[in-house]
Amino acid sequence: MRKAGERITMLTAYDYPTAAALDAAGIDVLLVGDSLAMVVQGHDTTLPVTLDQMIYHAEMVGRAAKRAMVVVDLPFPEGQLSIEQTIRSSARVLKETRCQAVKLEGGAEQADRIRALTTAGIPVMAHVGLRPQNVHVEGGYVVQRDEEALVHDAIAAEQAGAFAVLIECVPSAVAAHITRSLQVPTIGIGAGPATDGQVLVINDLIGLTSGYLPRFVTRLADVKQEITNAATRYRDAVRDGSFPDSRHEFS
Ligand code: KIV
Repeated sequence: MRKAGERITMLTAYDYPTAAALDAAGIDVLLVGDSLAMVVQGHDTTLPVTLDQMIYHAEMVGRAAKRAMVVVDLPFPEGQLSIEQTIRSSARVLKETRCQAVKLEGGAEQADRIRALTTAGIPVMAHVGLRPQNVHVEGGYVVQRDEEALVHDAIAAEQAGAFAVLIECVPSAVAAHITRSLQVPTIGIGAGPATDGQVLVINDLIGLTSGYLPRFVTRLADVKQEITNAATRYRDAVRDGSFPDSRHEFS
């Protein structure tokens, strides 16, 4: 798609019906993001989600995807342990979920790991820029601006075998520089329009998250409000006796 100049679309998915809907909509890549710790499990960071939980969700998404490629985040600290352990964890993802690739946070310092995974037959999407698993080292979710280091990270990941590089929260000009420097596709989030593709967290896009919304998100539906509306109407109908009526009963 990069070679053809076609923009790549990517969204997160965590369950079967959502993944099926996104696949039917023609989304190119589904990401079982470790963001599920925040938007599904209700944690403050991505750190608590476990490998077993990621696999549980990825299996549903992998089964729903008929056309889209499915990438699964390696949750903390699977990408920080020994390379052998990372290969074992990633192999479990591929064996148990039907998904096709893993995503690993980090660039240059992860080059040996990316090379080992790729050599083992496990495609890797690298994740550079803001790395949510680093939240406590950074002291928050901070836009990354060190252009030289970021370009170096992306090139190192590509040279190690990454098939794509996700770029999170960097200035648009830096993302453009990275994209020009690589042969493999870049997928941006909070990285401006110059990347080869865009990714968002599905719950943000459809209005299923509450509270703070990062400025790079576009909200195209209000599903949380729709759920509240339907539940309120159901509650009222049960209370006033209008549900169930003759259409809903067996004789
Ligand atoms: O976990 C996630 O949802 C991500 C985002 C960059 C989309 O990695």
